[in-house]
This record gives sequence, structure tokens and C-alpha cells, in this order.
Amino acid sequence: MTGKSTGNTAAAQVLYHDDSQHEARTERPGKKGQEPPKKKRKVAFTPQPVGLLGPGWEHCDATALVPHYTQMNQVPKHLRKYFSQRERYFSRYNEGCLLDEEGWYSVTPEQVALQIAERCRCDTVLDAFCGVGGNAIAFAQTLIAVDNSPVRLALARHNAIIYGVQDRIEFILADFPSFARSLQTLPLSSSSSSHISRSRPLKIDVVFLSPPWGGPSYITSSPRKPSSSLLSTPHEEEAHPEFTLDMTSPLPGDELFHLVRKITPHVAYFLPRNTNLQQVASLISNNSNGGTSIQGGNQIEEKVEVEEEWMGLKLKALTCYFGGLVRGQEDMWHAATPTS
Ligand SMILES: C[S@@+](CC[C@H](N)C(=O)[O-])C[C@H]1O[C@@H](n2cnc3c(N)ncnc32)[C@H](O)[C@@H]1O
Repeated sequence: MTGKSTGNTAAAQVLYHDDSQHEARTERPGKKGQEPPKKKRKVAFTPQPVGLLGPGWEHCDATALVPHYTQMNQVPKHLRKYFSQRERYFSRYNEGCLLDEEGWYSVTPEQVALQIAERCRCDTVLDAFCGVGGNAIAFAQTLIAVDNSPVRLALARHNAIIYGVQDRIEFILADFPSFARSLQTLPLSSSSSSHISRSRPLKIDVVFLSPPWGGPSYITSSPRKPSSSLLSTPHEEEAHPEFTLDMTSPLPGDELFHLVRKITPHVAYFLPRNTNLQQVASLISNNSNGGTSIQGGNQIEEKVEVEEEWMGLKLKALTCYFGGLVRGQEDMWHAATPTS
């Protein structure tokens, strides 16, 4: 993982965090101890807002929305453990990446996101819960990124600009279940006013699901217990009862799955490491085809593949692949219609 900082960024950070820069520039001119010339008109100095993205990006710079911490002592105590992992979340964090509180504990670490993106190579991915963009940025292909938080969507766009991938992403502020249902009723070639759908039919190849896991306490199942993120400490990992699919929001995990399978059979489902895998398997055995799919004219039993996401010696999460994303099941890319 590499974190590099540009001179540009350093300047932006100073302007954002150090108001004395503005104060210094509003001082009246004149050498120390001298009276300023009496007849000169005072010209009010209006500081220009300079965001972390620099000049030219003001229209999508989200610097004003959340703090960009640069030192541990700026960070609220409960977020410090996440801040210490900042370059694992975004290797370019120091160039100005932004996260809000939920973003800090829910973003997918960059190396994990890259691994998932590698498996999901196709023309168009729909990231149903894009958050601050951890996965969205890693998907190298055309991406539709949905989130129902305007702040987090703005942060995702801001972060995508830092990685230079903003042109490939269509950011959509929406409640995902409503968005998914509306997709099913739209004709393939003329859906919305987005540049993606204007230039190509709105055909979604893969849906990536990383829904909220019920708050940061998913690992303990107790809403009042101290939080745990994807990069939690060994101490927090002591208690990890089973995560069941009814704990996801905004819909129980099985309903969410069946909803997106009406869009595409190829689904990557990002779930906690303590997920009940029996429930995951039953997602396909309970589908309308009884867990089978048509491949090469033959009815065959559909499989799900579970990938463990490790960082160093720690298991962080599971990605469950369905449809043509499963190794050995690539023929499903050519299957005619989505299953449910
Ligand atoms: C686990 S986070 C996603 C993290 C993301 N993969 C990343 O790496 O940054 C879940 C996201 O789902 C969003 N969300 C929650 N309910 C939603 C809904 N009904 N529709 C769309 N997005 C929703 C939240 O705002 C949050 O950003």
C-alpha cells in the first residue's frame, strides 16, 4: 500500500486546518512599527475557499462537509483506531480523502476492495450501497454508485476525484430498494437522463451489495457494545456470535438478494466474517428454480462461492459470489434471463 502526498495537498491541508493563514493575509500592509499610508483605500480581503481537491474542482469538492484529519490529536477519541488505519482504507488518504463517521467504520479497505473488483470484471457494475466509495473507486469499469446519504455520496465523488476515476462513475442519490424496483420497470435502452444510460443501454452485469450490517456492533450483536470495524482490534474480536441475514438493512439480506437477482444473476455480496453460511447457501437453493440454472442447454445446480477477505493474519469479511462470478460457473454469463 502506498500513500503519497503532493505539494498541492499540503497547501490545501494548511488552508483548511490553519485559519491563521487567512488572518495573516487580512493584516493591513506596512512594515512593523510603521503607520500605514493614510490616504490608501482599504481593500477588503475575501479569502477564497480552497478545498482539498484544489482549483477547478470546487463544484464537487466536499472539504466543507467533514474534517480531513491529519494528526491523531485532531481525531475524536472513538475514531482514533480507525484513523490509525487510514492508509489501509485509502492509500491516497493524505491527498485529501474524506470520510464521515459512518464512513470511518464501514469503508472497505482498499486491498480488499481491489480483490473484489478483480473478481467482478465486466462492463457495468451497480454498487448498491456505495458509502464513501471504498469499493466504487476500486471497480475499474463503468459503475453506477447508489447511496441514500447525500453527504456520503458527495464524499464518494470527492474521493473518486482523488483517484482520477470520477468519469467512470454515475453517482445516484436514492433509496436502493426503490431504485432497484424502478430499474425492473424501465425499458433497457431508455431509462434515465444519466450519461451512462444515454450512451449505452442500461444493462447491469454485476450488482455489488455491501449493505449496512446493523451498525458497527455487528460482530457482537449488541448495539451497546463498543464498536468494531473491518479493521478492528484483536480485543474486540473475542466475542463474535453469528451474523444472520435478517440483520442487514434497509431490507433483510435474503429479500435484498432476491430483489437484485431480478436485475442480474451475477451478484457479489459483502458480508461479515461471522455470517451464517447456511443462510447464504439457502439463498440459491430457495430461488424460484430450486437452485438450478440453465447452462449450455442443461439444467445444472447453481453454486455460491465464498471468498475470505484476509488482511495480514486477520480475516476481515466474506464476499459471496453468485452466478457467473463463481469459478467454474462462467457459462452463466450467457444465460438468457436473471433468476430470482
Ligand atoms: C457498509 S456502508 C458501504 C461502504 C462502502 N462499500 C465503502 O466501501 O465505502 C453502507 C452504506 O449504505 C447506505 N445506505 C443505507 N440505507 C440505504 C438505502 N436504503 N439505500 C441506499 N443506500 C443506503 C449508507 O448510507 C452507507 O453509506
